[in-house]
Amino acid sequence: MDFKLKCMACGAEYSPQEIRYTCDCGGLLDVEHDLDSLRGQVSRELFDSRLGDLALPYASGVWRYRELILPLDEGAIVSRPEGNTNLYRSPRLSDWLGVDDLHLKHEGENPTGSFKDRGMTVGVTQARFLGCQAVACASTGNTSASLAAYAALAGLAAIVFVPQGQIAFGKLAQALAYGAKTLQVRGDFDAAMKLVRQACDELGIYLLNSLNPFRLEGQKSIIFEALQQLSWEVPDWIVLPAGNLGNTSAFGKALYELKELGLISRMPRLAAVQAQGANPFYRSFLGGFQQRERVEAHTVATAIRIGAPVSYARAVRSLRWTGGLVAEVSDQQIMDAKARVDAAGIGCEPASAAAVAGAKKLVEAGIIGRKEKVLVILTGHLLKDPQATVDYHLGKLAGLTPSHANRPVTIEPTLEAVQEALEGSL
Ligand code: F0G
Repeated sequence: MDFKLKCMACGAEYSPQEIRYTCDCGGLLDVEHDLDSLRGQVSRELFDSRLGDLALPYASGVWRYRELILPLDEGAIVSRPEGNTNLYRSPRLSDWLGVDDLHLKHEGENPTGSFKDRGMTVGVTQARFLGCQAVACASTGNTSASLAAYAALAGLAAIVFVPQGQIAFGKLAQALAYGAKTLQVRGDFDAAMKLVRQACDELGIYLLNSLNPFRLEGQKSIIFEALQQLSWEVPDWIVLPAGNLGNTSAFGKALYELKELGLISRMPRLAAVQAQGANPFYRSFLGGFQQRERVEAHTVATAIRIGAPVSYARAVRSLRWTGGLVAEVSDQQIMDAKARVDAAGIGCEPASAAAVAGAKKLVEAGIIGRKEKVLVILTGHLLKDPQATVDYHLGKLAGLTPSHANRPVTIEPTLEAVQEALEGSL
């Protein structure tokens, strides 16, 4: 096997056949590929030649890049298949953001409606490879939906820990429907995260949060696929929402590896965007990452309602590698940006809109230039959180003004009522 687990803090190495998520020193682990032997073996042409392949593994937008993900036997792979998500241009959103060369990659188009599927196909494949019978995660909703689906596909028992009453309805529905044992923890995500780590250690269950380095290997493919869709032209900025910091970590590692392998010649800058009420990473950034901050998190974007992100150190490294930064946006800015993305015909869930709101804020601050090439990652599907969407349009979101409300109109079943309702609309 030409990869190993390596601690990013102390450099200790472990076999990938060992079940472990962190180093003995407490540091986070990376899946380390042998980049020297991969140099010359992987190329843009190799990945391009796999486009359009209808069979697994290359029909998957994750396993198309398998040398840089997890070079296991094809037969071992558990795949829906995932990835192959669209890259959108929208003149309306470009105008609104003030960026001419704007691209939105919609990770909500994955099989369970979020980018988590890209990590889960790899995590569940590894779980099966290790001979595990049960898998678990703590989640604000999307990871649990994804884990439930992939575990069902692989025939593994799934246990999900979610903060009671704090996850969007579409996501809860998915966990129940795919058959996961759903534990609603009386506490927030951070409490659920702590609990699932204990439970996995004590009860012999395989942990599939993004603490697990194999998850991040799959999520790197967002970057690989986006660059391939951009004909390998590197954007100036990649903007993404940040919660538990798995994606921020994965993106930095993907870019680092591509650069080392000569598949790209320069680094884009990463901009990680947090909600103002759930901004521990932003606070650490303001302090030059001297200190790891924690907060009690509150935001309308429940997916990123996280106060103590587990991948902190890996995410700091990503920003150092890419000359990146962290921004924060208010719930009002998030929901207004979401309304714009939705009304452009694209649609996303609130956490995804944080990235769009963050990009706008960075343009307004003169940090992102109008002529720069900007890639924004939309992480989850519009239908994940219908409640937040409908409440926004009905003006029912506490403390928020729906600047782009599209109110429904109730009418009698008569043509006159239709005419009256449509006055000024046609
Ligand atoms: N966007 C969405 C839609 C998410 O579900 C998440 C995280 C993020 C952004 C943030 O990504 O954690 O890698 O920084 N959701 C996790 C979950 C925490 O449990 O579904 P991150």
